[in-house]
Amino acid sequence: MTETNVMERKRANEIPLHGPEAFEAMRRVGRLTAECLDLLVDKVQPGVSTDAIDKLAFEFIRDHGAYPACLHYRGYTKTTCTSINHVVCHGIPNEKPLRDGDIVNIDVTLILDGWHGDSSRMYYVGEVARRAQRLCEITYECLLRGIAAVRPGATTNDIGAAIQTYAEAERCSVVRDFCGHGLGRVFHDSPTILHYVEPAYNVELRPGMLFTIEPMINLGRPQVKVLSDGWTAVTRDRSLSAQFEHTVGVTETGVEIFTLSPKGYDKPPFNLG
Ligand code: MF3
Ligand code: CO
Ligand code: CO
Repeated sequence: MTETNVMERKRANEIPLHGPEAFEAMRRVGRLTAECLDLLVDKVQPGVSTDAIDKLAFEFIRDHGAYPACLHYRGYTKTTCTSINHVVCHGIPNEKPLRDGDIVNIDVTLILDGWHGDSSRMYYVGEVARRAQRLCEITYECLLRGIAAVRPGATTNDIGAAIQTYAEAERCSVVRDFCGHGLGRVFHDSPTILHYVEPAYNVELRPGMLFTIEPMINLGRPQVKVLSDGWTAVTRDRSLSAQFEHTVGVTETGVEIFTLSPKGYDKPPFNLG
């Protein structure tokens, strides 16, 4: 996700519209992105390090003729982001073993034939407490409700409203500091997709727009801080945080999701496949 950026908001008029060939390319990269996340389902276990998971993702991507967009992106050195428990996003894979009861978001972006597919899911490590599972289920429902708001003539604030209304009704909070983004040949493009209502930025959706929806939802307060590594964003109150992300396109009649799991592993109960 990108940092919520005021300059970007001012570029609301310059949103790229893509044609049928771009949609074909997005289907191909989106499917491969979902298959990469599917591959990791069996691997996320207590005792396994996020570095080991990152390596598997790298090898899968390389072996399928694609490239990991995050590797060397603004100095980032890994293929995936692995965000555990109170980490909101951009957790950096390392050698520490995952522990029973952790929830971890794995976020991966692939480049295939020059087009980007970006998706993330929550994975359960062993036996996970019910309240952590509930947060993951709520966050997944936020993503689905956000996607359901997408159609020509609707606006980005309709997406934000769908997500914020549901999250807050469930007594959770929506992270403000990171947002979804347009993508295509470019990794982070306009429009900005806020996961809450912000009347100062509201773009009408039109057929041919390509973007991610990637709500980050906290059990506690919405505030985050970025650690001294320059990437890892954590909740200030150390409450649990969850995220799901799909890459979608606006069609003539509604929305197409490019990063659906062929195996259904992106739906509850997620990685129990
Ligand atoms: N995949 C993330 C997103 O959703 C971006 C991660 S950038 C990285 O946009 F450099 F941290 F990997
Ligand atoms: Co993204
Ligand atoms: Co992502």
